[in-house]
Order: sequence, then structure tokens, then C-alpha cells
Amino acid sequence: MKYLNLNNGLKIPMVGLGIYQLNDEDVIIKAIDEVGYRLIDTARMYGNEKILGRAIKRCKTKREELFITTKVYTPDRGYERTKFAIEESLKNLGLDYIDLMLIHEPYREGKEMYKALEEALEKGKLKSIGISNYNKNQYLDLLEHCNVVPAVNQVEAHVFYTRQELQKVLEKYGTVMEAWSPLASGKNNIFNNEVLLEIGEKYNKSSAQIALKYLLSKNMVIIPKSENIERLKQNIDLFDFELTNEDIEKIKTLDRGISLFGWYD
Ligand SMILES: NC(=O)c1ccc[n+]([C@@H]2O[C@H](COP(=O)([O-])OP(=O)(O)OC[C@H]3O[C@@H](n4cnc5c(N)ncnc54)[C@H](OP(=O)(O)O)[C@@H]3O)[C@@H](O)[C@H]2O)c1
Repeated sequence: MKYLNLNNGLKIPMVGLGIYQLNDEDVIIKAIDEVGYRLIDTARMYGNEKILGRAIKRCKTKREELFITTKVYTPDRGYERTKFAIEESLKNLGLDYIDLMLIHEPYREGKEMYKALEEALEKGKLKSIGISNYNKNQYLDLLEHCNVVPAVNQVEAHVFYTRQELQKVLEKYGTVMEAWSPLASGKNNIFNNEVLLEIGEKYNKSSAQIALKYLLSKNMVIIPKSENIERLKQNIDLFDFELTNEDIEKIKTLDRGISLFGWYD
């Protein structure tokens, strides 16, 4: 596993497991103990924090080795509600600290919600804090009003929408870009994409692995979701080959610069 440095001195694994709609405790345990995932990405919205909490308790891997992310969302809008949400997430996950907590979307109350995260960071309940789905202007606006620069902005990013302009701005101020739906959630027939298949043949890798490796080559953290043991293995088996500049240029041609999920820049 490779790691990126966060702006608070902590390290984040570059590949994690996203568990939206993945509610099988045993699969999560296998992903951690047998496949080697360390970063697990959930959210209050996904309704599976308790499932993840049980998996963390039952797995053989030590808690300190894990990097657990969750997110506050719509019902938690506001300062007091976010404070409550942090306590709820800690309880659901059965943890005394969360590695990374994000504001799920740029809500109107985002700044006061972020203040609640900053206070929990100070108290050690959260180790790192950040945001999700913030575009460039929303990010720059938050920077003007916060005390702690977000460690992470988790946004839609995949070969069809690589968001290099946003990433440049994030990196300038010290925020790591984390890609959600790094396999485009299977959209645009990604797994049969000829460019990805052709490059994959050279390295004996699948189209999915090439798509994920491309994001790693851009210094993004990725959180692909899979419930299948073979695909879970594939999605983390990305460190024994390198894409050439020529491969990277070919993959770049797939970028359409438009969200596949209706988000806007
Ligand atoms: N912050 C946000 O607003 C936000 C929004 C969306 C998602 N997320 C996060 O991002 C995570 C991942 O996003 P996602 O679940 O939408 O999409 P994804 O990871 O891009 O794609 C998952 C889909 O691809 C399939 N798949 C996975 N690995 C594969 C492989 N190697 N070969 C072929 N098919 C493969 C999965 O099926 P199988 O399970 O059958 O393998 C599933 O249908 C979520 O779980 C969540 O944690 C965050």
C-alpha cells in the first residue's frame, strides 16, 4: 500500500474500500483481514456505520492500523446537529476516535458544521477533518472562513471526469483529492472500454485496474466499492506496475469534463 501525507502530518492509504450499499459485515471483515484494505469509507447517509462498527470489532486487524472515514449529512445541518452527529457516529462505529470526518455536501450551513468538526478535532474525537463535493469556489470560500484547512475533499473523479483544475487548487492549499466512484460506478461501459482494455493487456491487468491506476498516477486517494472477493483483490493490486506517459496520454482522451452524476464545477 502507498500512502499520501495529509496536511496534519497523518498518512492516508491511497486505496480504500467504499461501502455505500455494501452491508455485509463478513465481506468487510474479509476485505480488511484477508485482502488488506485499511481505509474504509462510510457515511451517516449510507446507514451502515453500525455494520462497519461490528466488522471493526470482529476483525483481527488492530484498530490503530485502520483509517475510518464517515460523513455528516442533510439531517445534521447546523452546528449543534453536527456535534450530535459526531457523537452518534462514534457510538455507531464503537470507536473513541474517527480518522476522517467529512461534510457530505456543501450545505448552506457548511461553515458552522465545519466549526463543529474543528472543535471535535481539537478534542481528539476526530483525527482529520474535511469536505466532500465542494467545487473550487465553494472550497475557496470555506478556506476564508475556517481555521483548519480541510485535509481531504472527496469528489466524483474517474477517467471520464478527472478534474485536474480542481485538484490543482486543492493541492495549492494542502488538501488531498479523494475520488468517489473511481470506477464511474460502472457507467459509460467503463469495464469494456477499448483504451483501458488495450493498455491492460500489456500489464496483464483489467480495465478496472487501469482506470484506478490512472487516478493513483494523479496522486488521488481512491475508494472503489466491490462486494466480490476477486474484484476486491483486483482493486488493491495496483502497485506492481506503472503506466507510461503514452498510456496516460491515451487515457486522458477519455476525459469529458462533465459529471456523470449531475454535480457541477
Ligand atoms: N461523497 C459522496 O458524495 C460519494 C458519492 C458516491 C460514492 N461515494 C463513495 O465512493 C464509493 C465508490 O463509489 P461507487 O460504489 O458509486 O462506484 P465505483 O466504486 O466506481 O464502482 C462500483 C461498481 O463497480 C463494480 N466493480 C468494482 N470493482 C470492479 C472490478 N474490478 N471489475 C468490474 N467491476 C467492478 C461494483 O460491483 P461489485 O460490487 O459487484 O464488484 C460496483 O457495481 C462508495 O462506496 C462511497 O464510499 C461517495
